[in-house]
Amino acid sequence: MPGAEAPAAPLLEAREVSRQFPVRGSGALLQARRMQTAVDRVSLAVQPGEVLALVGESGSGKTTLGRMLLGLTRPDSGAVLYQGQDIAALRGSARAAYRQAVQVVFQDSGGSLNPRHTVAENIALPLRYNRGLAPDGAAREVDTLLELVQLGAAHFRNRLPHELSGGQRQRVGIARALASRPRVVIADEPVSALDVSVRAQILRLMFDLQQTQGLAFLFITHDLGVVRAFAQRVAVMYQGQIVEQGTADAVLDAPQDAYTRRLLAATPVPDPRRQHGA
Ligand SMILES: Nc1ncnc2c1ncn2[C@@H]1O[C@H](COP(=O)(O)OP(=O)(O)OP(=O)(O)O)[C@@H](O)[C@H]1O
Ligand SMILES: [Mg+2]
Repeated sequence: MPGAEAPAAPLLEAREVSRQFPVRGSGALLQARRMQTAVDRVSLAVQPGEVLALVGESGSGKTTLGRMLLGLTRPDSGAVLYQGQDIAALRGSARAAYRQAVQVVFQDSGGSLNPRHTVAENIALPLRYNRGLAPDGAAREVDTLLELVQLGAAHFRNRLPHELSGGQRQRVGIARALASRPRVVIADEPVSALDVSVRAQILRLMFDLQQTQGLAFLFITHDLGVVRAFAQRVAVMYQGQIVEQGTADAVLDAPQDAYTRRLLAATPVPDPRRQHGA
């Protein structure tokens, strides 16, 4: 009786999460520390296999929200749920499963590789620790992952990070995130530090993985063209709140919120249908 089943919980969900930070350098010593709200009662759900884009101006709280979903920043209130379970309450193997399933790729993932370890050693670490592979199994998997991100294994496995280009390092960062066999990747401006030509290659690579491996993405970006091309849904943040969310087409073509309209007016989005049309 499929109709009688309760709907499955989202893969990853923020429920009414808020987070404040102290404001620095506000003068008088005895003044009470002023706080600034970075994220203000935000609810957001990532479904298995979807690309959900998160857009909004600088300082609107996107990275802070992403870090809360990753368990790196604790919400002051509200909760983050993985498969319906509050991540703050996860222990032991359940916590390990969450840590493995939710991975991050950020702007400078390549820069966070261990500089003294080879490419292969950097990628092998999560294979050994998260998946418990033995050294020879890990070595085979490293080669598979390198080929997946289109870096020839024979050529790259024994190189050090500083011997790679920025785009190659970012691919290694993606391979390392994939090594854990995640179900969702929080991608925080993963290509904005890269050359335009490399950007397209890496974007294509990530969305191939979405198609072939059913990987979900929370894709944080300033690039509305990327949203148009890849995202099924989009959420718009403004001053710590989500002011609008919906299908990518609905939000980009018929924005309901005044801020979304301003954002779209400031950054025209090429509409592929219009380009190929009349
Ligand atoms: N660790 C922190 N300490 C103090 N304030 C912080 C911290 N992290 C974020 N903030 C503040 O919270 C607000 C939201 O920052 P956040 O990095 O989440 O924005 P963002 O939307 O990712 O911006 P950008 O598009 O520039 O990356 C900002 O005002 C920022 O200064
Ligand atoms: Mg950010």
